[in-house]
Amino acid sequence: MKKVLGTVALTMALAGAAVAHDDVANEAVKARMMLMEGVKTATGTLGGMAKGEIGFDAEKAGTARQALIDHAAAIPAAFMAPEMDPKSTALPAIWENWADFEAKAAAMGAAADALDTSDLAWLQTGMGALGGTCAACHKAYRIKK
Ligand code: HEC
Repeated sequence: MKKVLGTVALTMALAGAAVAHDDVANEAVKARMMLMEGVKTATGTLGGMAKGEIGFDAEKAGTARQALIDHAAAIPAAFMAPEMDPKSTALPAIWENWADFEAKAAAMGAAADALDTSDLAWLQTGMGALGGTCAACHKAYRIKK
């Protein structure tokens, strides 16, 4: 019985994670939004530690850093097809300036790569540069809300 309940709980947890963008009909758009949500989660972990809102944990910080490097590398493939959806905040300028968009994704990857997550002070030093790469791309390629 316990095992069955555990399975139900896991299924519910996974379903919960998947409903986040149920209102997005275009699967490609949904996938790139979920990729960005992953970027947000990892950035939130590092930012929270840098601000002292979450206790510093070098291992968790290292995992978040690696997630950002991986997510940055995944951005070009996720955005390559010029898919649109009413819920999307992506601007058509992405596909008119594709090389620049890719460069901005690479800049995010480089900023994440440059983060030293072994030490809180070094993490704090690198967060500004990382945040700047989010802002640079969003400013050019995302509808302001
Ligand atoms: C190379 C460009 C680029 C970079 C770099 C980038 N983003 Fe984005 N981001 C986008 C675009 C484009 C969208 C809009 C996607 C859509 O709605 O189709 C977006 C959307 C988002 C969203 C909303 C996702 C949703 O659920 O709708 C979040 C959150 C986000 N980005 C966080 C970040 C953070 C944090 C960083 C930096 C660590 C970052 N992004 C770096 C291009 C970028």
